[in-house]
Order: sequence, then C-alpha cells, then structure tokens
Amino acid sequence: MSEGAVKKEERRKFQVIRGTRDLLPPETALWNRVEQTAHEVFATFGFGEIRPPIFEPTELFSRAVGGDTDIVSKEMYTFSDKRTELPSPVPFLTPAGYTPALEQALRENPELDTEENRSGLALLKQHLSSMTAADAADDARASTFAYGRYLEVLEGILRGDSISLRPEATASVCRAYIEHGMQSFPQPVKLYYMGPMFRRERPQKGRYRQFYQIGAEVLEAVRPDAAKDAPKELAKDAAIDAEVIEMLMTFFDRVGLTGTELSINSIGHSADNCRRGYVEKLRAKLIEVKDKLGPDSQRRIETNPLRVLDSKLESEQGIIATLPRIADHLCEACATHYAAVKHQLEMRGVIYRENWRLVRGLDYYMRTTFEITAQGLGSQNAVCGGGRYDGLVELLGGPPTKGIGFAIGEDRVILSLQESGKAPAQQGRDVYIAWMGEKAQATAIRAAKDLRKAGFSVELPPVEQKFGKALGQADKLGAKYALILGDNEVSEGLWTLKTLADGSQAKFTEPDLLEHLKKQL
Ligand code: HAM
Repeated sequence: MSEGAVKKEERRKFQVIRGTRDLLPPETALWNRVEQTAHEVFATFGFGEIRPPIFEPTELFSRAVGGDTDIVSKEMYTFSDKRTELPSPVPFLTPAGYTPALEQALRENPELDTEENRSGLALLKQHLSSMTAADAADDARASTFAYGRYLEVLEGILRGDSISLRPEATASVCRAYIEHGMQSFPQPVKLYYMGPMFRRERPQKGRYRQFYQIGAEVLEAVRPDAAKDAPKELAKDAAIDAEVIEMLMTFFDRVGLTGTELSINSIGHSADNCRRGYVEKLRAKLIEVKDKLGPDSQRRIETNPLRVLDSKLESEQGIIATLPRIADHLCEACATHYAAVKHQLEMRGVIYRENWRLVRGLDYYMRTTFEITAQGLGSQNAVCGGGRYDGLVELLGGPPTKGIGFAIGEDRVILSLQESGKAPAQQGRDVYIAWMGEKAQATAIRAAKDLRKAGFSVELPPVEQKFGKALGQADKLGAKYALILGDNEVSEGLWTLKTLADGSQAKFTEPDLLEHLKKQL
C-alpha cells in the first residue's frame, strides 16, 4: 500500500452499517417512554418479561418461520460458529496423519465431543480407508472420490454450527418454553419481550436491517381431554385471542398513537377440508389468470399461492378481487372460532376491519391473523403483526401446545408519534447551579446531591462561570430554574433561585428551597 493510501486508511471515518442507526437523545427519551408503557400495560394483563438471546441456531428459525419464506431464505444474518479449537489440517501432509490429531483433540475437549463430531470422525476414517484401498488397487478415480467425501465431512466438522441473528422472537420464545418445561407452569404462560431483530431487507423509511420489536406470546399446553370439550376450547381460544388484541390496542392508546387501524382475518388450519382445500382452489383459479399476473405472483402460484393475496401491484388488484375467499372455505371449527373472536372483540369494544387478504409472511400461523397500521408512515405502515400458531411448539420438538402473539415494530411506532408531533423536545434540566468561588463549589456539590436525591435533574458546571455566562448556559439547556450560589449566598445561608421563564428571583434557606421546588415541579 502506498504511503498516501495508508494515511487515507488511517483517516477513514467509520459510519454505521447500512440499515442500522444510532438512536440519540432526545429521541431515546421517547423510546424509553414507549417501552415503559409496554412494561406497565402488559403487566396489568399478567404478562412477565422474557429476554431470549440475540442469536440462535439457524435451524430454529428455518423450522419455525419456514425455509421458503423471504425472512429465512433471503434476509437472515447467518454465520458459522468457527471451531478454532480444532487443529488445522494444513500442517499435516496426509489425511492419515491428521485424523489421529483430530481424534485426540475431540477426546481432550468435552465440548467438542458431540454426537455429530463423533459420527463425523467415524465417517472420516471410513473415507480414509476407502482411499487407502483405492490407492492399493491403483484406482485413481475411486481414490479421488473418497478424498472428496473426506474433505466434505472435514469441512462440516471445522465449520461448526450455523447461527443466525434473530429475525423475530416467536421461535425463541417457543424454544424457551420447551427448554424450561413451561408446560408444567400455571397455564397459559404469558410472556413479552422487547429488543433488536435483524433482517437483511432493502432499507427505506420505516424499514431497517436492525429494528426493534415489542412482542408478546401466550402459550398453553393442550389438555389431554381437550378434544372431549371442543366447543369450550374454541370459546376459550377466541377469548384469549381477543384479550391479546385488546391489550395491544390499550398499549397503542396509552402511548398516544392515533389513526391506528386493526385488520383481522382467519386463515383456517392446514387440512383438506379447510386451508389446504382452499389453497388448491385458489391455485386452480390463479392458473386460469396466470398470464395477467406479474412474475412474482406467477412464481408463487407454485410455491405459496396465499402470498399472491399480499401483492401490492396495481395491475393485479382487479384480478385478486375476483379470487375465491378463505372465509367461504373454513371448516366448521375454524369458522366457529373466527365468529367467536369477532364477538369477543365486540364485547371488549375493540374496533376492527376484516381483511380476507391478510395472510402474513411467516409459515407458522393458523386461524386468527391480524395487523395494525398507523398514520404518517408511507408504504411501511404496519406497526404490528400477529396471529395464532397452535402446533409451532410441537414442530420444534415440544409437547402439543397452542400459541397466539404479536410483535409491534417499535421504530415505526416512534416514527408515527414523531410525525404526529408527539416527540419530546430537547431534554431540559430542572435546576442549573450557577456557582462562583471555592466555598460555593462545596455547597453546590452538596446542593446537587440533595436535589438529585429528591428526583430533580440538575446540571452542575464543573468549573466556575461568571453569572451572566452561567445563566446563558442554563437557558441553552432548557433549565427551568437557576440556583445562584456566590460567596454572599453561602455565608448568609440564603440561596437565590431564579425562575428562567420570567426572570423573577427569590431567596430561600436550603430546606425551604427543596420544599418550594417539590411544590413547583
Ligand atoms: P412480522 O410481521 O414479521 O411478525 O413483524 C412484526 C412487525 O415488526 C411489523 O409489523 C413491523 O412493524 C416490524 N418490522 C418488521 N420488519 C421490520 C423492518 N425491517 N424494519 C422495521 N420494522 C420492521 C413477526 O415478527 C412475528 N414474530 C409476530 C408474532 C409474534 N406473531 C406471533 N407472535
């Protein structure tokens, strides 16, 4: 590298990665308020907080969310958990020399002595002996083939596990439910979470690669005798669905989000007399109109016809309006459940709109699906999505379990609040302490401590300032009061408090000052 290039590299300015951002004050105060509201509202509905890890085995998401979904097939941040503890094969001249070293390393490191690695090692030995046999028989082709297989297995061992940054958290919550045996907790188990999620989407307003969700899940072990009392179970599920949505709308109301619209739908369950039957009818109809559809929808006729209903393409809207609707093809149980959800929402005073095209982009949903949109967000106007996912826990290796939940896009909630003028201004201070003189500094430090203890926000300048400059600074920081401490004030024991809004001044003893401020602020 030339000297110039080195200098340039040294001066390189680092910037956030595309699709990620720094959240700064005063905006972070709004984030905190939104999160605090979620803690408070969710607690009143009996939910407890869960904090799952940010990364999990890739397989967890592909199994739960679906290997063919955009999220899993295109958008996950996936990496391998490199096995740096294993000896590198490079210094060994032959596989025959390397295999014993690998075997020893596995023996010495219990963490690496996994079922998978042991069977990998057995395979390595097998390919190695095929290679030796092929060499002895002078069969170059067989030897090369065995060597190729040997390298493949070795790469698998060295690469280690595939890990992904979480694109969503429902899969993690279900994994945790199984891992901690939560089916033996009082049912249903009600959990909520908040934190960053990661999807490699094309960034735009309201769409980021690191974004934040606030979500909640209700999980309930299926009772062994549930089938005997099917109508009661359906009614119970419907009430739980409606209560989850009610909690969500209460949250939006409390944070002050205006113009929200709740859309609901039922996508039935996967059976021939329900969704599967409907999807076949839909597919048959789509094949008839295939020529009028765009390439994405044409592809989806084969892969996932339901997703055609999601299309935002202007040219497809007329055709979609003529397609068969799932509501007309629900089985009796799903239709009863859907009617009960609507009735339950009405009992709770939750206003909703039915949208038969609401199918959602994750594979785990069944029966209830819902989405909420808000104002001021442009095309990315969904602030929340959710639905029922009975069977997901079982799919991940757990006991038969029902589930329903949602995730709120916090970034979008914040954007919508800002657009409607609900963002907080610069974080001000209650009191700015303008002090001058060494004695005054000691008093100022004590005053700051006492005021902070009483819960006021206080700015204590680290060096003395002329009073004029100090007052200017107090004004810039949006302070409500300036506490003036000079030699006179300290020796008299009477402190001057200036109200910055009107410039008025009054003198207080220390205890009186605290009482006065408590009344005012
Ligand atoms: P989702 O619809 O994929 O559902 O995401 C929920 C919400 O997260 C969206 O409505 C949106 O507000 C926000 N969101 C998604 N992607 C982005 C992005 N790239 N940038 C900003 N915000 C985004 C789920 O994730 C399910 N786990 C919800 C759920 C929980 N279903 C049942 N339980």
